Amino acid sequence: MKKIVTVEATPNIAVVKYWGKRDESLILPTNSSISMTVDSLKTRTSVMFDPSLKKDEFWLNGKKVDLDKNPEAKERLKQLEVIRKRARITHHARIVSINGFPTAAGFASSASGLAALAVAASKAAGLKLDTKQLSILARLGSGSASRSVMGGFVEWQKGEKADGSDSHAIQLANHQHWPQMRLVSAVVNAGKKKLSSRAGMKQTIATSALYRARLEHHLPKVVPEMRRAIAHKDFATFADITMRESNSLHSVMADTWPPIHYMNDASREIVALVHELNEKAGHTIAAYTFDAGPNAHIYTLAQNVDKVKRMLKQVKAVKKVVVSKPGPGPVELTKPTDHLIDPETGRVRKHSFNEKRQEIIVRR
Ligand code: DP6
Repeated sequence: MKKIVTVEATPNIAVVKYWGKRDESLILPTNSSISMTVDSLKTRTSVMFDPSLKKDEFWLNGKKVDLDKNPEAKERLKQLEVIRKRARITHHARIVSINGFPTAAGFASSASGLAALAVAASKAAGLKLDTKQLSILARLGSGSASRSVMGGFVEWQKGEKADGSDSHAIQLANHQHWPQMRLVSAVVNAGKKKLSSRAGMKQTIATSALYRARLEHHLPKVVPEMRRAIAHKDFATFADITMRESNSLHSVMADTWPPIHYMNDASREIVALVHELNEKAGHTIAAYTFDAGPNAHIYTLAQNVDKVKRMLKQVKAVKKVVVSKPGPGPVELTKPTDHLIDPETGRVRKHSFNEKRQEIIVRR
């Protein structure tokens, strides 16, 4: 019997954005950020360390990724080295990961994927890590993944130390704190993004003067304000900061040289419609936010989800809408039939995502 650990994790959508690193290799950010971990768009990852493996193996959505030919994927898996060192093992790992949503839909899966890997791989190596340590591990693969190791509302504290030991997430409130909160995500473009966040933020730091103003004047104010809004479930303040934050981020992107534009006409149409919706309602009932892509994420409360959906129907470019709630964070699946690796043979099981049933199917 092989030891397989399987974990499902979900993405998070930031309301105070991370954009810029002070250390590229350890992935240490220039500012603290805040997000909500959602309950949908799961990534399932199974990990096995095995002495018979000659090198690390990584399967994504049913296909084996050649790590020798894909230095970016290899770089993102560098938490494995840290895990091995800490667990004092030398075995290589078989990692099998699948997204429980269409990969081409334009939803980022790096946060959920690398958070699932941190939890599954550390456990498979025999380590018992707390959420702070897991957050640091996930961070090594992708900054935003540091926030997906916890559920509910999460702050990634930037930390001050050069070794990154104080740069990790903390939970501001769990997923039951604000049960009415919803995130309505609208896919407006299924295409792969042209410029990665990693390359984009590097370019911003190097060239944007506006970025300095964001860092020095805007962010130190909004981080504590957002913490307060979440603690008091003050939707109007939460929404206001969220929208202004997204606008601030996309302004520094536009101020980057050469300029970066992730939002498109459909994104801007949604911005205008949200402001119109809020004006009609007489108070703020919805807040948009955009990451490194044109898809809109709209925070709203349960009673206003239908209004937001109706609003999105007016936008021709919207292809798909997904509604999420605050999620609990990574969950370990212990049923042997859920593993993507066969515990008897150690082989990768046939698995796929069934879009109709919105389910990950594992064949035995
Ligand atoms: C715009 O976490 O994808 O979504 O650390 O280089 O992997 P790397 O970047 P990544 O950047 C996310 C940027 C963002 C804002 C956010 O999620 O805070």
